[in-house]
Amino acid sequence: MIFTKINSLKGKVSIPGDKSISHRAIMFGSISEGTTEITNFLQGADCLSTIDCFKKMGIDIENRPDAVIIHGKGMRGLKAPDVMLDVGNSGTTTRLISGILAAQNFSCTLNGDESIQKRPMRRIIKPLSMMGADIKSIKGNDCAPLEIHGTNLHGIRYDSPVASAQVKSAVLLAGLYAEGETSVVEPYLSRNHTELMLKCFGADISSKDTTATIKPASRLQGQKVIVPGDISSAAYFIVAGLIVPDSEILIENVGINPTRDGIIRVVKQMGGNIDILNKRTVAGEAVADIVVKSSNLTGTTIGGDIIPTLIDEIPIIAILACMAEGKTIIKDAAELKVKESNRIDVMVDNLKKMGADIQATDDGMIINGGKALHGAAIASNADHRIAMSFAIAGLIADGETEIIDAECVRISYPDFYKDLESLV
Ligand code: S3P
Repeated sequence: MIFTKINSLKGKVSIPGDKSISHRAIMFGSISEGTTEITNFLQGADCLSTIDCFKKMGIDIENRPDAVIIHGKGMRGLKAPDVMLDVGNSGTTTRLISGILAAQNFSCTLNGDESIQKRPMRRIIKPLSMMGADIKSIKGNDCAPLEIHGTNLHGIRYDSPVASAQVKSAVLLAGLYAEGETSVVEPYLSRNHTELMLKCFGADISSKDTTATIKPASRLQGQKVIVPGDISSAAYFIVAGLIVPDSEILIENVGINPTRDGIIRVVKQMGGNIDILNKRTVAGEAVADIVVKSSNLTGTTIGGDIIPTLIDEIPIIAILACMAEGKTIIKDAAELKVKESNRIDVMVDNLKKMGADIQATDDGMIINGGKALHGAAIASNADHRIAMSFAIAGLIADGETEIIDAECVRISYPDFYKDLESLV
């Protein structure tokens, strides 16, 4: 797909459902009693992988145009799948579902695509094994495919070496079924959707600073879940509105949970013209509309506890930094190396091809902004966030920017190109 320079972006866009929240609603609804109704569910390939896995374990899930309806079977209602569970490209599916599967009274295997087979699973295998789980990497390389023999678990207090909501959630979900209390302590607080949503479903779960604690549950109750728009998807329009000249975009229905809103804080730090309007709470999550206008930006330093709150937005923040005057340093973000692609290397290589002054570091990147970008052929590495970031870069670069494997946006934002086109 080819992108060229444009003069302005104007109009409004309504953001599709949050990926993290959509996954969790399917999982929690499946192990609850009664019906769970999910509106504004994200119809991205990753969330469809989660639906598929639970259908294979006997859960009746209706994916209707107006809502997803889950007929939950309770905490002990999953049945052994006849086939291997296919998690596709989804790290969230793989890690969270493992926490549930570790406690079932059946065995199963799970696997996904080429990218998922390279992503580190030791980070969940270790704490789940400490809880008594029987889980192993079939190839012995600490990656999927995984083989899980469900068994009885006991609670632990786990000091996680990484701030990862996927690790935290896997352990907490296992903790739902374990004997005794389970706590996860993180170096920095990661997104807390599991804690917020499990509480609504009736779990005894609490948080203090960077520690989340869960007590075993005998039952969960199905809920109505209204999924807020995904700030990670809104991020592309936030940056586009700031860097394309003569632009003003209204971005509606954006989840602004404080464990996810780092990009807003960074944009303000860089001098971006951004307004947060109509703040409200929807199903326990903070939501707002956002207006962005073309801005003169200055470089900044991004590191420490803000990193987990914007980890998926770093690729598009790197594009923003290229358009800011001065130096931007992104540090403490080594986790980027183990996402759908190595997002440090892939961003740096592709931005260099476009003429940016950027260098990779061990835990991030350093960008000297203010240099014009020119078009290039961009290897997205089939990583949805890389493809969307460079689609936006293509709107301000001279010449043609070609995104290779552009259709990978189906993972988190199937209508991304259509929504972008509507603003031109
Ligand atoms: C997610 C957590 C983050 C994020 C991913 C979704 C989640 O991963 O990058 O896109 O839904 O819990 P980590 O928890 O591994 O940082």
